[in-house]
Amino acid sequence: MAGKAKTAWFCTSCGNESPKWMGRCPACGEWNTMVEAPAKAPAASTSKGSAAARSERRPRHLSEIALEGEDRLSLGLKEVDRILGGGLVRGSLVLIGGEPGIGKSTLSLQIPLSCPGMKTLYVSGEESERQVKMRAQRLGGEAGSCFIFCETQIEKIIEEAAGMQPSLMIVDSVQTMFCESVDSTPGSVSQIKEAAAALLRFAKESGVPVILIGHITKDGYIAGPKILEHIVDVVLQFEGEGRGSYRVLRSIKNRFGSTAELAVFEMTGKGLREVENPSEMLIPMHAQEELSGAAVASTLDGTRPLMFEVQALVSSAVYGTAQRSATGFDTRRLNMLLAVLEKRAGFKLGAKDVFLNMAGGLKVSDPAVDLAVVAAVLSSNFDFPIPRDCCFSGEVGLSGEIRPVSQTERRIGEASRLGFKRMFVSSWTPSEGAEKKSAASDLQVEKVADIAELVKKLFR
Ligand code: TYD
Ligand code: MG
Repeated sequence: MAGKAKTAWFCTSCGNESPKWMGRCPACGEWNTMVEAPAKAPAASTSKGSAAARSERRPRHLSEIALEGEDRLSLGLKEVDRILGGGLVRGSLVLIGGEPGIGKSTLSLQIPLSCPGMKTLYVSGEESERQVKMRAQRLGGEAGSCFIFCETQIEKIIEEAAGMQPSLMIVDSVQTMFCESVDSTPGSVSQIKEAAAALLRFAKESGVPVILIGHITKDGYIAGPKILEHIVDVVLQFEGEGRGSYRVLRSIKNRFGSTAELAVFEMTGKGLREVENPSEMLIPMHAQEELSGAAVASTLDGTRPLMFEVQALVSSAVYGTAQRSATGFDTRRLNMLLAVLEKRAGFKLGAKDVFLNMAGGLKVSDPAVDLAVVAAVLSSNFDFPIPRDCCFSGEVGLSGEIRPVSQTERRIGEASRLGFKRMFVSSWTPSEGAEKKSAASDLQVEKVADIAELVKKLFR
């Protein structure tokens, strides 16, 4: 075919395709995210292959489709199995995304090292064989039947994997892979899309599950993984805040299980360690002194209740404008909560610096943390410590009202397991379950309607 190859513009944030350049993506509203790429990859060889396969396929009745024996592959890491919904499904493509240095390569190498009986092909496009070996030595564990392949060309990788028939293939990372059939540099939108599509075809046709690693850059510019979210079966996000040693693996999309599941890991000198009872590590239960500015939040991520300490520091502003800074919590949400305190409860926080920190470097998005944030800010402001046996769970509305949150019973269960004696929740919390649960334990549920009532019960 003569003439110029047809190109299109793709949004690197959401993958939206457009025939012309636009400053702002009409689908996700992000600015400056459109990049040019060939409209359709001229992947003659691959499309021919699937055309042949396609001609054999015809509709089949649901009852005719047989499930082959073992459908889920159990990985050596219990927590990863759990967030996948009970193991890795045959023929699935799993994307693990995260910032550079967060521990994606470490996690993915720990999988084969912790189940030596599983034949794994670990493809590294970033590190040499020696580097992978050094990392494996550091992590310990048995080499078992783990094969390392340092290659970046997708066609070669798939050929090798098809010959070897491993139980699991890991590809680190999608940004380093390239397809010969696509005429652009590795890491570009069309290369990433084509590499993922080729791996998806391989996974579906061979039944080998593939774990694909993808980088998300520090400044929030998502170079790749976002545009893959609709192609892959499962998206897991690996995150952590600042220099904290805790890492959270979160499921964002899962075709074979629930989303919003969460697992906590600790980065140690010998790799990642699964934290089975994260609440116990995130609350300083043994601390003797009661300090002002700390409040324990009860949150729920997916199906697991998680409790941790919220720390606030309120001090007089040194400079003209007050500083507000939050680690692990949305700063805009903090500003909103401070505005609510100012307007609805008469606290003059306008001339104060407010610093907020979630213990253990966690990043939280559960609205139930609001109440603990408000309590911690007020406690620091009054310099009045909150008793160690109190915890909080509630969303704060714009008029200062405390709104109920989901699954209060589970939160109460976790709080009483950890020995808390009082839990502050919304007045509108549906009663039965919560009351039964608190009657069964010695945890007292305190219902509060708004911030004024919280202050009355807590600080006076
Ligand atoms: P890595 O898995 O290379 O990150 P990614 O693949 O997401 O870019 O993790 C690198 C970080 O993890 C690095 O800063 C060192 C730290 N680390 C440990 O603390 N302990 C270990 O045993 C290993 C292997 C890494
Ligand atoms: Mg890496």
